[in-house]
Amino acid sequence: MKKILDLLSEEMGKAFEVCGYDAALGRVSISNRPDLCEYQCNGAMAGAKQYHKAPIMIANEVAEALKESKVFKEVTAVAPGFLNLKLSEEYLLNVLSEMAAAPKFGLELPAQPRKIMIDYGGANVAKPLHVGHLRSAVIGESIKRICRYAGNEVIGDAHLGDWGLQMGLVIMGLQEKYPDLVYFDDSYEGEYPTEAPFTISELEEIYPAASAKSKADPEFKAKAMEATFKLQNGERGYYAIWKHILNVSVEDLKKNYGSLNVEFDLWKGESDVQYLIPEMVEYMKEGGYAHISEGALVVDVKEETDTKEMPPCMILKSDGASLYNTTDLATIMERMRVYHPDEIIYVTDKRQDLYFQQVFRCARKTGLVEPETKLRWIGFGTMNGSDGKPFKTREGGVMRLENLIRETKDEMYRKIREGREMPEEEARRTADQVAMSALIYGDLSNQASKDYVFDLERFTSFEGDTGPYILYTIVRIKSILAKYKEQGGTLEGLKLQTATSDAEKQLMMQLVQFNAMMQNAAEEVAPHKVCAYIYDLANSFNHFYHETRILGEENAEKKAGLIALLILTRDILETCIDVLAFSAPEKM
Ligand code: ARG
Repeated sequence: MKKILDLLSEEMGKAFEVCGYDAALGRVSISNRPDLCEYQCNGAMAGAKQYHKAPIMIANEVAEALKESKVFKEVTAVAPGFLNLKLSEEYLLNVLSEMAAAPKFGLELPAQPRKIMIDYGGANVAKPLHVGHLRSAVIGESIKRICRYAGNEVIGDAHLGDWGLQMGLVIMGLQEKYPDLVYFDDSYEGEYPTEAPFTISELEEIYPAASAKSKADPEFKAKAMEATFKLQNGERGYYAIWKHILNVSVEDLKKNYGSLNVEFDLWKGESDVQYLIPEMVEYMKEGGYAHISEGALVVDVKEETDTKEMPPCMILKSDGASLYNTTDLATIMERMRVYHPDEIIYVTDKRQDLYFQQVFRCARKTGLVEPETKLRWIGFGTMNGSDGKPFKTREGGVMRLENLIRETKDEMYRKIREGREMPEEEARRTADQVAMSALIYGDLSNQASKDYVFDLERFTSFEGDTGPYILYTIVRIKSILAKYKEQGGTLEGLKLQTATSDAEKQLMMQLVQFNAMMQNAAEEVAPHKVCAYIYDLANSFNHFYHETRILGEENAEKKAGLIALLILTRDILETCIDVLAFSAPEKM
């Protein structure tokens, strides 16, 4: 269904036309002076030159032509030529009723869904998730859900880091700890055990220790590199132990991502495209794209218009080893072959900016990606502590994501306990759910590219621009609806009614913007727009709530209309938080 601004612009355009002007001048926008009007049109200003007339004369004529309009209740021409608009309550009711009855609240779906792949999360096998991974996961998940809601086919891929030196380090760490395992016995020819000989907590201790050791001990590092090489060349024992590492780690990752409501469609990793590398290298050589520079195989990606340095994209190191780039390019090759997406979106730390420019240019230049397929990179800023530096633990170390989640849950529990009577177990459950909204909304409400400060106190507050405030609003609505039912009311088949107060009209005008907002958030892959919208909507609702007798309303028809408005507000808020990947409890 058409968006409200388009509907209003049509009505306005007709009036311009009737007066002998170009209908395109009738573009209506939301008022930037809400104290004066609800919507505005600046077309008379724009048309003045074209028609050699004072803008106020045009505005007066158009206002006159709209006197009988069923859409606008008030059209005022004001000097020097603005048109200030107020909507008719009946018209607003009609549009909102149509939205309420339409699938997805009247969101216009693309005639041809686009196939979009999202590469996000970026976890590395055997390394615990840290706060840096929070952003990629949360932003990527929300973009996936927004694009899907907007009618696209979306495939989310975890693109695990499961193939580099870190694997050799873990293998060496294990070998030093358990030298007698059959995996390290060259003469062993039997089947390898199906059970992993270690747990996730062991694995998580081994990686940091091995990584530290490799920095201090060159011999150990050389061994780890050799192990990486052997693994990559398919040595049986190393391959078998690597499979265990992968399985144990992925199981744990699934649990952690699960608590963030992050669900990948594909759990592919860097290792999955290694088979393609020889073919890709051959293709790049044969096509004349790649050449040898200082022993390495590279593709030049510099363009004439570059003002900054643009180093070539390295495909193979001088020792023939592949790199992060190589794998990303091979992944593009595979994605094109298997899925043929219209777009691939990457969500990573913004420090990978230059890297992705190189990879994208290389993929385009070499034709790995077809011209119609869009490559989009979303670089996010850093989550900082209150000191403005990247977020750390109190001891100054890297904060594990698990611990950050636990701290947030504990703080939320404390707040919930403080404010109300609730059985212990329910308080825990509720706190866990609300805590996720605090973390996720705290992150997503910022434009992704910006850095932000993680402020536990503010994020977990029930007031202000926070996740808990949004949930609090939803819970408030749910509790009124529950009371209405207790009083014998039914929630089915209720009809919205014409607004009878400013606060009610404001709320309806917020609701009516939903479909345009969602479409825009999908086009711009911008979860923060959904956050900004629900914050405004929650504010409008709470203002309306304070101004209005709802359950105490005596006119039954009017009361039912108010309840219908509550239901629609709840549904739109819940739809929005669902695409942000959190949910509301029944009580809190
Ligand atoms: N594993 C990488 C890291 O921890 C992120 C992967 C991002 N995705 C990609 N296709 N390169 O930095």
